Amino acid sequence: MRTELIKGSVRGLKAYVPGEQPEGQKVVKLNTNENPYPPSPQVVQALQQFDADTLRKYPNPSSDAVRARLAELHGCGVENVFVGNGSDEVLALCTRAFVEDSGSIGFFDPSYSLYPVLAAIRDVGTCPVELDGTFQWQMPAPDLCSLFFLTNPNAPTSMRFPKADVEAFCETFKGVVLVDEAYVDFASEHCMDLALKYQNVLTLRTLSKSYSLAALRVGYVVGAAPLIEALMKVKDSYNLDGVAQALALAALNDVAHMRANAERIIASRQGLSAALTEFGFDVSPSETNFLWVRPPAAITAQDLFDKLRECGILVRYFPGPKTGQHVRITIGDENEVAALLSAVGSILKGDVI
Ligand SMILES: Cc1ncc(COP(=O)(O)O)c(C=O)c1O
Repeated sequence: MRTELIKGSVRGLKAYVPGEQPEGQKVVKLNTNENPYPPSPQVVQALQQFDADTLRKYPNPSSDAVRARLAELHGCGVENVFVGNGSDEVLALCTRAFVEDSGSIGFFDPSYSLYPVLAAIRDVGTCPVELDGTFQWQMPAPDLCSLFFLTNPNAPTSMRFPKADVEAFCETFKGVVLVDEAYVDFASEHCMDLALKYQNVLTLRTLSKSYSLAALRVGYVVGAAPLIEALMKVKDSYNLDGVAQALALAALNDVAHMRANAERIIASRQGLSAALTEFGFDVSPSETNFLWVRPPAAITAQDLFDKLRECGILVRYFPGPKTGQHVRITIGDENEVAALLSAVGSILKGDVI
């Protein structure tokens, strides 16, 4: 094997491991924070009416119609909005645009496990900031790194950091702060205004969670025009395909549908959280579409994960000293939540060996 053909940093790279996407099996899938409810009927209509003849031509290179709608929604200019092929692409482009080869990337630990992988792909250093035992805010140093990925609400811990702390950090930090708001539509507060107030702040959103469009791959950031312009320079020419642009626009024209689904998920979250607390779980106060829970002393998190799997229920387990005592459970629809609770009951009674 001629491994020398591969760049050194890539040879040693541990790739990001996405949550399992089983095909063909009937499982209750609560492992990747997808939305259990369908996207807007307007998206379905746009898909059905999509003119296949337009596929011959390249799409709009800068997703202008989608950006215009987002600018309208967030009360900013089109020059303040960048749209990407999923928010993961936007994160990767930020590592290209805002980090010198000698620079580094910061993030909380634990947080979204893609961030260190993106740093490794760019072959730059990482500056993890350890959260305490209850996963609360720690103020990063102002000159810690070139780019700080700040997930709020945080994943996998599900909790929101206070906005005052986030703003105090944005004010003093010397580099670019990217506030990753992938789950913010399930939260009680957002930081979009910080992106329009500070020259060094970007706020990231995705259509994958609250808009039920994970397969479409659309995410975006809002921020100061020079930062957006930098992202435009380093993106692929046609980063968002024509179908994605048409369907994203349809989704963004029906915010009410997204809100109704988000409210339904928030209501289920309260019910599931109360029921798991009754079972003796320690449930973190979630502001997302998932719960971060520590099972009762009778069972380890790893065991619970394995036994739920035997019952045909997939949740997410992140081994390791910081995260290994918890499991992350996506809020499913009413039937999925009932199936989960029934399985948890059987497991705790010792009926699943
Ligand atoms: C914190 C966070 N940011 C970004 C993403 C990526 O979302 P997208 O589907 O838009 O690439 C995820 C996906 O799980 C996430 O958890």
